[in-house]
Amino acid sequence: MIKKRTIVPPIKCQGIKTKLVPWIQAIIPESFNGCWVEPFMGSGVVAFNIRPEKAILSDTNPHLIHFYQAIQNSEITSSTARVFLECEGKKLESSDGEYYYEVRTRFNETGSPLDFLFLNRACFNGMIRFNKKGGFNVPFCRKPTRFAPAYVTKICNQIKSVSEIISYGSYEFRCQSFDETIKMATGDDFIYCDPPYIGRHVDYFNGWDENHEKLLKRCLEETHTKFILSTWHSNDYRENEYLKTLWAEYHCLTREHFYHVGAKEKNRNPMLEALVTNFRAVYSEEPTIAKEQLILLEKGEKYLANKNIEPTWTTPVDSVKV
Ligand SMILES: C[S@@+](CC[C@H](N)C(=O)[O-])C[C@H]1O[C@@H](n2cnc3c(N)ncnc32)[C@H](O)[C@@H]1O
Repeated sequence: MIKKRTIVPPIKCQGIKTKLVPWIQAIIPESFNGCWVEPFMGSGVVAFNIRPEKAILSDTNPHLIHFYQAIQNSEITSSTARVFLECEGKKLESSDGEYYYEVRTRFNETGSPLDFLFLNRACFNGMIRFNKKGGFNVPFCRKPTRFAPAYVTKICNQIKSVSEIISYGSYEFRCQSFDETIKMATGDDFIYCDPPYIGRHVDYFNGWDENHEKLLKRCLEETHTKFILSTWHSNDYRENEYLKTLWAEYHCLTREHFYHVGAKEKNRNPMLEALVTNFRAVYSEEPTIAKEQLILLEKGEKYLANKNIEPTWTTPVDSVKV
C-alpha cells in the first residue's frame, strides 16, 4: 500500500490546509453520502481531495469564487492558462519584475481571474491580502523568472486536476458569508469549516472576531448536521481560550503543524492544530490506497477507481475533550 497523493490546487492562500488533508480526510464518517458544505473554501484543497459527488463551496472573497467558476465554465483551462502565463511570464522577466505591478493595477481595475492566478503565484509568499478599498496589495516575490517552464507546467497540471474534479461532480461555488452557506446544509450533508483563526493576526478578505466565532457556533448548532471545525489549539506562547469556553461541549482532536513565515528555518512556528467535531471521530493515521488503484487514478480513471477505494482505519482513537 502506498500513500494517497494530495491534490494541490492552483491557488495558494494563508492557512491553506494541504498538509492537514489526510488528517481531516481520515475522520470523515464512512456513512457520509450527502453534500459537502464548505463555507470557508479558501484554496479549496480540502474539498478537492475529498472529491464529493456534490458540494457547496463558498467564501466571501469573490476572486477565489470567480476563479473556480471560471474553471467550471471552461473560461480557464490548463491550455488557456499556459498561453497566458507563458506570455505574461516573459513580460515579467523582461521588465525585471516591474510588470508584476502593472498586472496588479490591471487586476484591481478588472478583477480578471487569470490576473488573479498570475498575482497569486508571483506575489510574496502566495498571500492574499487587500487594502481597505478592496485592492490587492501584496508585493512581488522578487523573482523575475518566476514563470519558468517547469513552474507554468506545474500550475497548469494543478488546473487540470481541479477541473477534472469539478466537472465530475455537481459543485456550486458561491460568494457569500458562512451563515448563509451553513443554512443550506441538511441532515445527510457534512460541513467542514475553516474560518480565519480567532485571536490570531489574519489578513483575509474579511476580519474575524468573537462575534463571528459566536455566530458560527450558533449556525452550526442549528443545522443538526455533522461538522468539523478547524482551529488552532495552542502554540509555544498561548492557547486558544475559545476551545475551553465556546467549543467546550464538542470533541477535539489535536496535531502539531509547522507554519512557515518567510524562507528561514528560524521562522518555522510550531502550532497545535485542532479539529473540533460534533461526532465521535474514529480515524487512522492516513488513508491508504492500493497500488493498482493509484495507477488507475493516474490514468485519469480516478472517479471510477475512487468508488472502490476503502480507506483503511488502522488506529481507532478516542476523541478527547479539552
Ligand atoms: C483559513 S482560510 C481557509 C483555507 C482553506 N481551508 C484552504 O485550505 O485553502 C479562511 C477563508 O475564510 C474566508 N472568510 C473570511 N470571512 C468569511 C466569512 N464571513 N464568510 C465566509 N468566508 C469567510 C477567507 O476569505 C478565507 O478564504
